[in-house]
Amino acid sequence: MKIVRTASELRSVVDLWHRVDMQVGMVPTMGALHDGHLSLIHMAALQADRVVATLFVNPTQFGPNEDFDRYPRDEDADMAQFRANGVDVVFAPPPDEIYPPGDATLVHVQGIGDSLDGTHRPGFFTGVATVVARLFTIGRPDCAVFGEKDYQQLQVIRRMAQDLHLGVRVLGAPTIREADGLAMSSRNRYLSDAERAIAPVLHETIRSVAEEVASGAEPGTQEMRAIELLKATGFDPVDYVTVCDAHTLDPYVDRDRPVRVLAAAWLGETRLIDNV
Ligand code: PAJ
Repeated sequence: MKIVRTASELRSVVDLWHRVDMQVGMVPTMGALHDGHLSLIHMAALQADRVVATLFVNPTQFGPNEDFDRYPRDEDADMAQFRANGVDVVFAPPPDEIYPPGDATLVHVQGIGDSLDGTHRPGFFTGVATVVARLFTIGRPDCAVFGEKDYQQLQVIRRMAQDLHLGVRVLGAPTIREADGLAMSSRNRYLSDAERAIAPVLHETIRSVAEEVASGAEPGTQEMRAIELLKATGFDPVDYVTVCDAHTLDPYVDRDRPVRVLAAAWLGETRLIDNV
């Protein structure tokens, strides 16, 4: 496994592969790897001949009061996991390799990037779309894999890749969960024992909303019931529980189209998101 730190180095490696008609799959991450990340690597390896993972804690997607400084970083442990799971190249650049001096260009995905987490974390999806557009432009992957765990992020990246004609097939991979249903996340390690014990209620709650709506219940009533239940369990605040169109993330009205239930809620200092 090769570790590269510069855009030009990544470019040359990928160019060599493309010259012999190899397909390249990319898996962007911010490190602090868990089984969710590894499942994306395995999917990329099935879809492509070579796998590039990226390791970059992207400063532009963190708000001023968010956890950029305390985000878990352990490069040696992450590299060992990448190596053990068949990654060919890890791109782990310093910030000014992605954001050159004087940098002034942002990618903002309107509409689908403005609701839900776009409202609660202003600038978040602009930071994500900006960094992923740059990673795609530098690495020119044929496909890239993202987790459904961050469902709105996946849809924002799909829209961005299409709109900018990046020629990357964006693939979604199912959410990997702990045995009790809690979606794996690098941020779960912030939870106290007491918070960890109630965290799986988020998944249980949105699952029950999905089942009720599937059997004909009114979405708005279910959303309200779920918010009350989460508050009573100790989630505070509950940013949203929403039943929406799986593609547009608009409020769910058309029962002939696929539906997604998404939620975001805080346990102490930790914000959890999930969807089914
Ligand atoms: P990060 O949180 O490190 O997640 C990297 C990828 O792993 C994302 O595609 C995310 O959806 C996926 N992932 C996380 N938890 C998962 C789980 N339990 N099951 C399946 N997949 C999971 O998301 C980011 O980083 C960043 O925003 C990034 C896209 C790298 C841009 O900076």
